[in-house]
Amino acid sequence: MAHLTLTGICKYYGAQPVLQDINLDVPTGEFVVFVGPSGCGKSTLLRMIAGLESITSGELLVDGQRMNEVHPARRGVAMVFQNYALYPHMTVRGNLSYGLKIAGMPAPKIAAKVDEAAEMLQLTPYLDRRPGQLSGGQRQRVAIGRALVRDPRLFLFDEPLSNLDAALRSATRVEIARLKKAMPATTMIYVTHDQIEAMTLADRIVVMNQGRIEQVGSPLDLYHRPANRFVASFIGSPAMNFVSPDDLTQEMPEAFEIGIRPEDLRLVSEDQAQLRGMVEHCERLGEVTIAHLRLSRGGALLAKLPGNPEINGGDEIFLTSEPDRLHCFDKDGLRIGDLG
Ligand SMILES: Nc1ncnc2c1ncn2[C@@H]1O[C@H](COP(=O)(O)OP(=O)(O)OP(=O)(O)O)[C@@H](O)[C@H]1O
Ligand SMILES: [Mg+2]
Repeated sequence: MAHLTLTGICKYYGAQPVLQDINLDVPTGEFVVFVGPSGCGKSTLLRMIAGLESITSGELLVDGQRMNEVHPARRGVAMVFQNYALYPHMTVRGNLSYGLKIAGMPAPKIAAKVDEAAEMLQLTPYLDRRPGQLSGGQRQRVAIGRALVRDPRLFLFDEPLSNLDAALRSATRVEIARLKKAMPATTMIYVTHDQIEAMTLADRIVVMNQGRIEQVGSPLDLYHRPANRFVASFIGSPAMNFVSPDDLTQEMPEAFEIGIRPEDLRLVSEDQAQLRGMVEHCERLGEVTIAHLRLSRGGALLAKLPGNPEINGGDEIFLTSEPDRLHCFDKDGLRIGDLG
């Protein structure tokens, strides 16, 4: 059980504010993902929860108990880092057992815990190998296993898959999703730069920017109803387009700016066009084509079109989207209700 509550958390390095007024409530068993640009404070916040970094002000509670001053080893927290440091001369079994041995756990109990973790992470066939004889993904699973055997009530991950190639990353991501299901009472916080990891693993995503929380919500909530321009542009890939109402050929309600996701645009005939643009470049990925367009008033626009449409550089094309897929923002970048 671990119900995590952050209230008014601030962090300064000297006079430099790094985190400001962080408020977040994470119920037991929730999988929360932190995303945000490099340097926005994700790792710092995670390290503060783990106790590896002091809290300048505010309060960190676990199950209602103040943790600010509690030693990292007594917080019931396990953390998995991007650079997993395994002991190279020990086998997988040795790596998984080591921490428990140091903690004085009896050998039979250690063996049972290690076997259970290996089973859960599909490492059983590799227990007698050394890290040098494993793939990157298998090594990272050993690092996760080492945290797992400690029965943490709070599991923290800081970009655990970012050193892996695309195929391993997606396989290990599925492994983590499985782990989450197998441990419904363990609260997990996961930092990533990867949109797919964030969207597929998270119960809720916390979008951070410059030391503050911009929005907290379910993945599809953030995708469909971003609270502001920052979240709108950060969630989704390729990023949302922003155009002026004057770029649209149809009458639009009051808005300073309109956001349209590249995947929400489709080709239509001129009389149905909401937008018209000149094709500058096409990226043909087989399954989809990313068209880079120039609007008549000078703005740029991306359209993600299914398949391999017959459009070429220099063509003028006509696009539209469903009215309920348009996102309106005021001049401060705040969402102003839904159209349609
Ligand atoms: N020990 C430190 N002393 C001073 N400043 C620090 C220290 N550690 C981190 N910072 C600063 O705090 C800010 C937040 O860093 P942090 O590592 O939390 O960012 P992040 O969101 O994890 O970024 P990334 O996505 O690149 O990992 C950065 O501006 C960083 O330079
Ligand atoms: Mg970081």
